[in-house]
Amino acid sequence: MSLSIVILAAGKGSRMKSPKAKVLHKICGREMLYYSIKAAREITDDVIVVIAHQKEAVIASMEKYFDGLTFVTQDADNFPGTGGAMMGISPKYEDVLVLNGDMPLIQRSSIEKFLANPADIVMSVIPLDNPSGYGRVIIEDGQVQRIVEEKDADEAEKKIQTVNAGVYAFKHHVLQTYIPKLSNANAQGEYYLTDVIALARNDGLSISPLNVEEVEFKGVNSKFDLAQSESIMMERLRKGWMDSGVIMQLPETIYLEEGVRFEGECIVENGVRLCGNSLIVNSHIKAHSVIEESIIRDSDVGPLAHIRPQSQLDGTHIGNFVEVKKSTLNGVKAGHLSYLGDATIGSGTNIGAGTITCNYDGVNKYQTIIGKNVFIGSDTQLVAPVEISDNVMIAAGTTVTSGNYESDILLLSRTPIKKIPGFFTKFFKKDK
Ligand code: UD1
Ligand code: CA
Repeated sequence: MSLSIVILAAGKGSRMKSPKAKVLHKICGREMLYYSIKAAREITDDVIVVIAHQKEAVIASMEKYFDGLTFVTQDADNFPGTGGAMMGISPKYEDVLVLNGDMPLIQRSSIEKFLANPADIVMSVIPLDNPSGYGRVIIEDGQVQRIVEEKDADEAEKKIQTVNAGVYAFKHHVLQTYIPKLSNANAQGEYYLTDVIALARNDGLSISPLNVEEVEFKGVNSKFDLAQSESIMMERLRKGWMDSGVIMQLPETIYLEEGVRFEGECIVENGVRLCGNSLIVNSHIKAHSVIEESIIRDSDVGPLAHIRPQSQLDGTHIGNFVEVKKSTLNGVKAGHLSYLGDATIGSGTNIGAGTITCNYDGVNKYQTIIGKNVFIGSDTQLVAPVEISDNVMIAAGTTVTSGNYESDILLLSRTPIKKIPGFFTKFFKKDK
């Protein structure tokens, strides 16, 4: 589509009370600016992001997801405000849509409504019971006359409940005419993009208000807003995956990030947390398990298991209180209470309860490699680096010291048990 989209993301966001730039705060695992860019990119190839505050961090985080974005740095010291933000842009197309970087919930279908309207300027309005904090919109005869910022509004203007949601469609020539005419003679000493409206209206341009959904256009200004937006976004993600065939039990208790993918028939029980770019294929994730940045295929996990980043499970059973980190398990059973870190484990291998890979010596991390059909008894420690061939049995309670162990052996390290008759009675001074 021949449309340029400008996303304003230069502001500090002081109401977030955070050293981090507002647009870098995350919703469902990704920075909120990601979502505006994603929606914009579904519509056009020309997406211009205006930055200033923490600009290097903003560029670096968005380049992880998108190629070919145009970043424009606002001279925010000399030209602060949303009007100042528009001063350096040179869009590729005549139609220019302006979005705010702090509106992660906006969707393609809503953006498209601006383009269907032939007015010189189309601007988003929302009726709000409590309009405080927003610019108020003065409409006469169906045309927007001007916008008054809260800080510049008089008592009568403050009572207006139609507010500016901050999204506009302009013709580029309109911006070229009026942006240079903006002044900063206002309560905040800023150049307001919203002043373009009155200037254009005085010259007789048509300015249409477009009623938009509060849920999509409400900006994130505080950490409370951030949490609310995240729960709405997560509900969309969950619904999308249920629509494509995933079974979710008590879905509202499931935490799900944007990067998570499902394939085939999957069941996710209540209280599960799925993070990062995890891929779940034909698997059952049981209650209160946490999966981070891992691939789970044809497996069942949990309840109460923790699969940490860079793990890959194939045809594997992971039971309760098992932690797996950076490990590849193929056809493995680890039913209870284990830590498997930096390990590669082959098919048919059974990991007894309480098995621990001792992968860290306080300085470095080491690998544990276990072959096929290994039977590991309960409470085994594997001191890495260690390699165990196929078809090995390890007796319960064994400490397997570092080294390579050949096939078809039993490993057993146990102190012989002592029996001391009469000890109990003597120790507790009890009568027989
Ligand atoms: C702006 C509107 C207000 C509207 C509200 C809706 C103006 C003057 N006011 O106010 O009418 O009701 O949005 O949310 O436009 N930004 C920059 N550079 C700057 C300042 C801001 O890029 O110098 C960006 C911010 O990063 C943000 C967006 O512009 O994404 C809006 O800025 P914000 O400070 O939230 O504007 P409001 O004061 O809320
Ligand atoms: Ca705002």
